Amino acid sequence: MDLMIFTGNANPALARAIAQQLGSALGACQVERFPDGEAHVDIRESVRARDVYVVQPTGPPGDGHLIELLFLADACRRAGADRVTAVMPYFAYARQDRRVSGREALAARVVADLIETSGVDRVVAVDLHTPAVEGFFTIPLEHVSALPLLADAVGSTLANRGVVVAPDLGAVKLAEHYARRLQLPVATVHKVRLSGEAVQVRTVGGDVQGRAPLIVDDMLSTGATVEAAVKALLAGGCEPTVTVAVTHGIFAGAARQRLQELPIARLLTTDSVPMPSDLLLPVEVASLAPLLARVIRQLHYGEPIGDLISGD
Ligand code: R5P
Repeated sequence: MDLMIFTGNANPALARAIAQQLGSALGACQVERFPDGEAHVDIRESVRARDVYVVQPTGPPGDGHLIELLFLADACRRAGADRVTAVMPYFAYARQDRRVSGREALAARVVADLIETSGVDRVVAVDLHTPAVEGFFTIPLEHVSALPLLADAVGSTLANRGVVVAPDLGAVKLAEHYARRLQLPVATVHKVRLSGEAVQVRTVGGDVQGRAPLIVDDMLSTGATVEAAVKALLAGGCEPTVTVAVTHGIFAGAARQRLQELPIARLLTTDSVPMPSDLLLPVEVASLAPLLARVIRQLHYGEPIGDLISGD
C-alpha cells in the first residue's frame, strides 16, 4: 500500500516540507471556493488502495479549514483509499472541551464527530490544548509533542538563572516537562479569563525574583495570557528579559500590538499554522516537518511512535 499526502489551503508550505522529507510530492488535488463561498474538493489522481495522509491544521479561519479537511477525507474515502489519516498540526476548538455555563456547545466533541463521520480512520495532532480531546474520538488519535523541539531551540541560554513559567494552571504539567528537560525551577501564574480577549492574574507562585522567565504554553492567540503573565512576573521582580515558547502561534486580534510592547527577547513557536508576515517580533520558528514526516513514515510502516507521543 503506497503512501500519499494531500493538503488543503491551511498550511501548504508545511505539507510540502513534510512530503519533501518523505521523498515524495503532494498528491494532486484542487481545493477551491465556489463564487458563493462553498468549498469544493476534487482529488486529481487515483487514491485507490492507498494509505492517505491529509495534512491540514485548522488555524484561522478554523471553520473553512475544517470543512476542507472533512471534504478531502470524504473525497479520498469515496475514491477507494485504504486508510485516511488526518494530520492536524493545530486542532482548533480544543479549548471548547467542556460546558462552563451549561448552555454552550461542546465544540471539541462536535468537531471530533465531524472528523470521524467524514471517513478519517486516525488522527495525528500536535500539542492539543487538552489531551482530553482524545476521549471525544472513537478512532485512534496519536498525540505528538513539539516540546523536545522547542526545548532544544531554547537551548542552554537560561541555565542557572532561568525559571519556567506556566502562565495558567492548565499549563503546569507542560511547564514541569520543560523544567525537567532544561533543569530549571517552575513558577505558576494563577490566571482567570474574563473574556476571549481579557484575562486577569490573581497570584504568582514560585520564586521569580531576579530570574529570567521562560513562559511556556500550548498556544498564543490574542496574547492576553502572555501579557498578563509578563506584567505579573515583572511586578514579582523577574529579570526583564522574557522568553516565550508556544507550540501554536496564532497571533489573533490585538496580539501583535500587545506583544510588541513587552520585553520579549525570544519568542519560539512552530509552523503548525503559517506565521503572519507582518510580525515585528523576534519570532523563531521550529518546523514540525521532520517530526510529522517521521510520525507518518512510522505509522505507514507500522512502527512504534511511543517516543514521539505527548507525555500528558
Ligand atoms: C488557555 O488555556 C491556553 O492554554 C492559552 O493560554 C490561551 O488560549 C492563550 O490565549 P490568549 O493568547 O488569547 O490569551
